Amino acid sequence: MSFDVNDLRQRFPAIRDSEALFFDGPAGTQVPDSVVEAVSRGLVEAASNVGGAFVASHRSEAVVRAARIAGADFLGGKPEEIVFGPNMTTLTMAFSRAVLAGFEPGDRIVLSGIDHDANVSTWTRAASDFGIEVDWIELADEHVQLDLATLEGVITPRTRLVAIAGASNAFGTVTDLRRVMDIVAGSGIRVFVDAVHLAPHERIDVASLGVDAVVCSGYKFYGPHVGMLWARREWLDVIEPYKVRPAPAEAPGKFETGTPSFALLAGLTAAIDHLASLGEGSTRRARLDSAFADIRSHEAALGYRFLSQLPDNVSVWGMPSMEGRVPTFAVSVDGLDAVEVATRLAARDMCVWAGHYYAVEPMRRLGLLDKGGLTRIGFVNTTTDEEVDRLLDALTGL
Ligand SMILES: Cc1ncc(COP(=O)(O)O)c(C=O)c1O
Repeated sequence: MSFDVNDLRQRFPAIRDSEALFFDGPAGTQVPDSVVEAVSRGLVEAASNVGGAFVASHRSEAVVRAARIAGADFLGGKPEEIVFGPNMTTLTMAFSRAVLAGFEPGDRIVLSGIDHDANVSTWTRAASDFGIEVDWIELADEHVQLDLATLEGVITPRTRLVAIAGASNAFGTVTDLRRVMDIVAGSGIRVFVDAVHLAPHERIDVASLGVDAVVCSGYKFYGPHVGMLWARREWLDVIEPYKVRPAPAEAPGKFETGTPSFALLAGLTAAIDHLASLGEGSTRRARLDSAFADIRSHEAALGYRFLSQLPDNVSVWGMPSMEGRVPTFAVSVDGLDAVEVATRLAARDMCVWAGHYYAVEPMRRLGLLDKGGLTRIGFVNTTTDEEVDRLLDALTGL
């Protein structure tokens, strides 16, 4: 293991300066000093807008360029394929409209029954505006995972796109994207992946995955609140986004409405550098490969620790082992509703969420939407064994 978790925690002001146990990573991770400093420096050094003849404008351009290169290293694409926006939802809202405006009425798209609503309502709203039909990938009978046979079953010659989560923000289930790609192989169907919940936990490499677009959000992987989309350049080139006339005519700039937050882009680069600093290698991509191998094994060990000692009063909804999942657990506790569990844990300084966390489709399919949902516990790479043990103790005594 190339990083020591206790040393790592010292980099995070919110962690080292508080008693809180942050199990709320699925809703947003804490940030290291290097990100705080980069954002602060960005506000000083990159306050001018881009496109000017003067040096302060060139500094802002350099910040954007650096962020595109970092984003490409993070996702595996090319810098000119990286688009920034305020968050994943805003990027996807605009992207889905632009994509579906280019389809023919009667064309079909496939959405997933496990997804966060940012990868559902964005598409269904645009679909209803443009006369596009929607089909669904359903949940399997067990363990809140997708039944990809239902994807095979709904594909028709009119199917143009599949929008699917890389990992569930509620249940932690990881989608078998390679199987998805096998199913659509040779069909020309575009695959758009919501990787918001995958990005903090797994190395993403769009080149080897073969998907057409991936979207993620910096604040879920130790960075600031800024969204990032990668898509194949040949696809970006043919999509006509909604834009104002003087905005760039070419991708990626044509997808970026208005002035971006340069300071947050500086912070995003710092977050990617922070992750890369946990690994080894001669390039940032190699360091990210190595860092994520260690992140994965640390988080899997935390997950096993949690699952193997789960008290009898607690049930995990989702994969019962660490196979095919990240360490995000939607749980119910006998005799208590989700909000009560979160409130009692909060009284012990433990940060967890209760409800549906915008994962409306799976919660509805499981009959939990009107019952207050579940309590969600998330581990990330700053989580320690001791924190897991304290959580298990707390759950036992609820
Ligand atoms: C899986 C998933 N997709 C999309 C989103 C929306 O991301 P954003 O807040 O950047 O719009 C979230 C946020 O929680 C998420 O967990």
